[in-house]
Amino acid sequence: MIKVAIISDLHQDHWKTKGLVPAYLSYTNSENADVLIIAGDLDSNVDDTCKLADHFFRDYKHVLFTDGNHEHYSGKHTVIEFENLLSINSKAIYLNGNSIVIDDVGFVGCNGWYDWNFTGNGNEIQICKDATYDWTEIKWGGILPPSLTWRHNAMMINEITSLRDHVREIFVFTHTVPHKKGVVPLGHPWYETNGAFYNSIAHKVFDVDNGLIKNWAFGHTHRPSEFVSQGCNFICNPFGYAHESTYAQRYGVVTIEI
Ligand SMILES: [Fe+2]
Ligand SMILES: [Fe+2]
Repeated sequence: MIKVAIISDLHQDHWKTKGLVPAYLSYTNSENADVLIIAGDLDSNVDDTCKLADHFFRDYKHVLFTDGNHEHYSGKHTVIEFENLLSINSKAIYLNGNSIVIDDVGFVGCNGWYDWNFTGNGNEIQICKDATYDWTEIKWGGILPPSLTWRHNAMMINEITSLRDHVREIFVFTHTVPHKKGVVPLGHPWYETNGAFYNSIAHKVFDVDNGLIKNWAFGHTHRPSEFVSQGCNFICNPFGYAHESTYAQRYGVVTIEI
């Protein structure tokens, strides 16, 4: 049995520009979790993302993270170049479609990306591009959603296929939302932009997991949720921005035993 702590969307740079000391920096691992999962959007500066992930070694034996869209915001490098920088510069384990096995549990992580495919409306892609800063802030380098989404899904499927015969279960974490229950509901002002948050093909990994994926942590939406589908417990515990009073801002990580 191992304990896994979950959080996402720390957005350290947002808090710094507000002149606030990020509350999570004072977190202690009160439940003695073995592993901390950070599901993307740590900081918009790649060096600061790595430093922040490494900071948590103070409290956790294993720190695993992946990139969100905000890790790609400086515009200095393409998405693929940033992925390489994250893997080189951090002591914490950056997962980008690869995995690590801890106590017979396979942890698979990646951004996942979104694929502008939720409502199916004819103008959905343009609505999604207009609704977020991603379209202008990210240097895509010729690989855009949905190609990025397909690429990340293929990496996850390969990794899960190679893990499934020698682990007792699999824990997946992505930055983007892998299930329709995780997005904002009909009637919400951002409903039409769910295609910029949701990965519509993420569910395909359940075709190859042999029932081993028991938990899936995600972020990107700053709307916390927890639900069960296909025998898997989905958890979103975002810290979010200063004006968002989230569970994570009040209580910190969510810890589960697996
Ligand atoms: Fe975020
Ligand atoms: Fe995000």
